[in-house]
Amino acid sequence: MSSGEKKRILVIHGPNINMIGIREKGVYGTESFDSINERIKQEALQLDIDIEIFQSNHEGAIIDKIQQALGNVDGIVINPGAHTHYSIAIRDAVKGVNIPTVEVHLSNVHAREEFRAKSVIAPVCVGQISGFGGDSYLLGLRAINKKISE
Ligand code: DQA
Repeated sequence: MSSGEKKRILVIHGPNINMIGIREKGVYGTESFDSINERIKQEALQLDIDIEIFQSNHEGAIIDKIQQALGNVDGIVINPGAHTHYSIAIRDAVKGVNIPTVEVHLSNVHAREEFRAKSVIAPVCVGQISGFGGDSYLLGLRAINKKISE
């Protein structure tokens, strides 16, 4: 996409991630959605990358966004929320566009209910970062930026 120009990274928040800081504080912490997005923007400035942040509670809207990224974006950081565990449609979208993608989670999905340990999307991603709260997104940004800069 960008040879010599800034890398473009799309950050996707799935369903209920906009409720972070309000919902299940014991699991997801108290940092607000706006604060996480602000930190993502700051990290992007540090890394000298262009960032777009998108949130939707709708599977189809997330799929549309991933499809629109084709030819426009160099890397994706996605927290698919509960879609992680069953959305073959989002998995197919990620695989279909073939844009390097990192799956991130605020909570450690491997230390919770058994159904959360399974991701149908992670196998088509470069990797998964899970359990670091809002920092998971920053780690994801760094990881995908390094990957696409190699
Ligand atoms: C989550 C983990 C999912 O299991 C859950 O459905 C979410 C948030 C996380 O970031 O820890 O909504 O993706």
